[in-house]
Amino acid sequence: MSRFSCLLWLEEVSSTQDFLKEREGLNCVVCAKKQTLGRGRYGRSWHSDEGGLYLSFALQEELKDEQTLPLVIALSVCQMLEDYGFLTSIKWVNDVYIMGKKVCGVLVEKLKNRSIVGIGINVNQKAFPQNLSATSMFLASGKEYSTVCVLLSLLDKIEKHLNILKEKGFKAFRDDIKRRLLFLDQEVIIHTNPPTLGILKDISEEGYLILLTAQGEKKIISGDITLRGIIG
Ligand code: BTN
Repeated sequence: MSRFSCLLWLEEVSSTQDFLKEREGLNCVVCAKKQTLGRGRYGRSWHSDEGGLYLSFALQEELKDEQTLPLVIALSVCQMLEDYGFLTSIKWVNDVYIMGKKVCGVLVEKLKNRSIVGIGINVNQKAFPQNLSATSMFLASGKEYSTVCVLLSLLDKIEKHLNILKEKGFKAFRDDIKRRLLFLDQEVIIHTNPPTLGILKDISEEGYLILLTAQGEKKIISGDITLRGIIG
């Protein structure tokens, strides 16, 4: 049976992520047309106007290489978008880009015994605030899309990927993710404290970045990545 047999569509919610967090027994994919307090990693806000697809679901099962869940979900989003004809990239660890701009963000939050996976996809938005380097499927193609079809196609990919992750672990996805990795072989900054500078060489078997720095190879476990000389 599919993990995603229950679907709850809300007109508006503060955040699908918080909605699920507050309802421990709810085993549904929660979607909203609009969020008033959508949020991303590091407490950033997630622009959640009508036109986008905002969803969260909870996972309670044991997965291999669980820390790679954001990457594997990002890959599911890439493959869904590619089926619609888009060229995609993954900005480690949880962003999907098309044409140099962010089209999707993934947020995985670990609670006691569950992981809450949140996904925001810019589907039909016609504009974004100027400070955001964001795009939507509409802006990138000039076409409108059914959010329901986008959702169903995405859940199908995620379902398959979770089964593979459970059985084989991250190694089954590493090549597919590396092929889509933004900034590969380029000079990047990881915004850790202090920042780490280096050339992005690879992604490890655990899903970490491998950087060639002045001090030799370094594994990066977390942090925001940007191209050297570019902020944001
Ligand atoms: C990021 O880019 O930092 C992650 C953004 C995640 C946004 C999604 S939209 C659905 C779910 N509800 C939220 O409040 N956030 C996630």
